[in-house]
Amino acid sequence: MYLNQNVNHYRMPNDTQLINDIQKAINAEYSAITCYEQLAKIAPTTDIKEKILEIQQDEKRHFGEFSGIYKNLKGQQPTYKISEECPESYRAGIEFAFKDEQEAVDFYLDIADQTNDPFIKDRFRRAAADEQNHAVWFMSFISYVTNNSKVSRQVENYGAKGALSAKVNIPSNANFRTSR
Ligand SMILES: [Fe+2]
Ligand SMILES: [Fe+2]
Repeated sequence: MYLNQNVNHYRMPNDTQLINDIQKAINAEYSAITCYEQLAKIAPTTDIKEKILEIQQDEKRHFGEFSGIYKNLKGQQPTYKISEECPESYRAGIEFAFKDEQEAVDFYLDIADQTNDPFIKDRFRRAAADEQNHAVWFMSFISYVTNNSKVSRQVENYGAKGALSAKVNIPSNANFRTSR
């Protein structure tokens, strides 16, 4: 595997900024994996639940790749911890994820720019593209919730209360016969 064959190729023990940033990226991936597990459980439809779990698979892959890179740079396994708490409600959770994914895009492109190593550059650029794609998915989950709440508000408005307060419009050209 590339990672094992190139251990010495990109070992740069002095590059502490890069190593620190990769450690942050590992924590961010770990936080996302935990958060998406939680969001998948409270997703409103099976399709959305499955999509969130697919996104989570990408985060697991990123976590593995970044950990491998970290190990090759530093010569030891990274530690990892939750760096961002996931909101408890579904709506707040997907809004949080949408913002978080967008921030990850910028952060990973910054990491790619910090190094001349083609393998690290490539991994972080690809991960940035994945996060961009995830952000689009989370935006679509937000629209789903927003549209659904609009529909339920409309149902409420046109329901019993709505019917009682609704004005009855009579066409202006209505021809009523009046008896004299
Ligand atoms: Fe990721
Ligand atoms: Fe992501």
